[in-house]
Amino acid sequence: MQQKLIILDFGSQTTQLIGRRVRELDTFCEILPYNKFPADDPSVIGVILSGSPYSVHDPEAFQVDLSQFLGRVPVLGICYGAQFISHTLGGKVERADSREYGRAHLESIDLDNPLFRGFTTGSQVWMSHGDTITAIPAGFQVIGSTKDVQHAAFWCPPGTQLSTSHAPLQKGVWAVQFHPEVFHTLQGQQLLKNFVVDICGSRQEWSAASFVDTTVAELQQQLAGDRVILGLSGGVDSSVAAVLLNKAIGQRLTCIFVDHGMLRKNEFRQVMDDYRGLGLNVVGVDASEKFFADLAGVTDPEQKRKIIGRDFVEVFNAEAKRLINEESSTPHSSFKWLAQGTIYPDRIESLNITGKVIKSHHNVGGLPKDMHLQLCEPLKWLFKDEVRRVGRQLHMPEHLITRHPFPGPGLAVRILGDITPERVRILQDADDIFIRGLRAYKCADGEPLYNKVWQAGAVLLATVRSVGVMGDERTYEHPVALRAVTSTDAMTADWAHLPYDFLAQVSNEIINKVRGVNRVCYDISSKPPATIEWE
Ligand code: XMP
Repeated sequence: MQQKLIILDFGSQTTQLIGRRVRELDTFCEILPYNKFPADDPSVIGVILSGSPYSVHDPEAFQVDLSQFLGRVPVLGICYGAQFISHTLGGKVERADSREYGRAHLESIDLDNPLFRGFTTGSQVWMSHGDTITAIPAGFQVIGSTKDVQHAAFWCPPGTQLSTSHAPLQKGVWAVQFHPEVFHTLQGQQLLKNFVVDICGSRQEWSAASFVDTTVAELQQQLAGDRVILGLSGGVDSSVAAVLLNKAIGQRLTCIFVDHGMLRKNEFRQVMDDYRGLGLNVVGVDASEKFFADLAGVTDPEQKRKIIGRDFVEVFNAEAKRLINEESSTPHSSFKWLAQGTIYPDRIESLNITGKVIKSHHNVGGLPKDMHLQLCEPLKWLFKDEVRRVGRQLHMPEHLITRHPFPGPGLAVRILGDITPERVRILQDADDIFIRGLRAYKCADGEPLYNKVWQAGAVLLATVRSVGVMGDERTYEHPVALRAVTSTDAMTADWAHLPYDFLAQVSNEIINKVRGVNRVCYDISSKPPATIEWE
């Protein structure tokens, strides 16, 4: 049976990070809302309680019934998790005189405690809390203190009889007021390893290879004899999902790749070639004329997005219906499933603290009910870097795996003003020079500059014209802005500090070769306050 660690989410911004750190220990984990602990699941080997923006004294603070797991599997409370354990079991949590935030050092540590194996006294930790624990519950012992926080870490050994429980604890309870998951807690990963591997007994079996093997076997069982439709975007998630499904069910998978006319230069053809090279059964639909017609004269960015979203669903559905109808003459081979490249961050039921709603699951955008398709999301447990590892495991070409993210509406949101085929052509040419340049430029460590950047592209400022001179001629044409950013999750981003010689070379090539452009600018705005895309 696959082991599983449960992370109960109390709404902290770092809950996902805890998940990533646990996965880095090759251990499968699930992040669940604080009140969704799975009853009677023998695969659970331990529980981590996350931080929270609330104080335990807040009337609205999230509460969990600890008796569901306390003593049965090892438990680790982090920050609010630690305060909640303390508060619930008879300790005391009070407002700190001053907020305990930032760097601190564990000046005293119980180095014999299994949670602190391998630690060094004085180890730096990261605090971030407004409340502090002034008394720990009876039965608990302090195992770590900083100068200002006496109860920085504490535990309750197995065998203890807590006043709130009927039987002695079979497994221990640990609590830390600092955040082991953040980078600034320098031995944080060691602490998590001690908990997950030594204390919970993880066999560390979660790997790309084991994921491929188990998922392929599960898909073969789940989809027995059925046919599946999958929408490809050219991006890494849907591509990896397709290759995985192809390995499981081969030609019973049909992929649809819609060209809305606003992809990168030659991308439709290249991606189709890549997919066919991977043995995928893929139908390409060139719907660019419809998209251009519907977008004519539209300048508002949100309007552009709406039209493209609507047209996309229409085209995809028409194609899917056509396939289903074609197949309906052979009753045993009809399509029953729609597969998507949804990944874990798209669907975590994270808590929206202000609205107090739990985010609804990512779902199929408007697929008509009359198609009766069930949803199949084979990557729904993976983080982005894990999807890439799976892609490599499936021997997919590196350029597909390392491809930058690209917005669904494509170049439509990179043309300021209305969209015409000619403007798309201009932007495609400029963008192509930029992206090819990034791939060709080698950094000091031998890596292409492309791999150092999270996302890059060109933007056509079609509503702006400036004067230039070429030869003896005066020009009056559009500028192109180049955008390249570094980021880890697109929530925040910094502009990439590209080498000047590279920018000079790209600017020169664009102005010389792309008719319609006479000026190139480099966007040096970070997000926030700017966004990655201009529209
Ligand atoms: P922003 O511009 O909000 O973009 O900083 C963050 C990330 O999201 C991508 N993006 C989109 N992706 N449909 C998409 O599928 C969209 O409408 C869209 N707008 C932005 C953007 O490329 C970046 O990776």
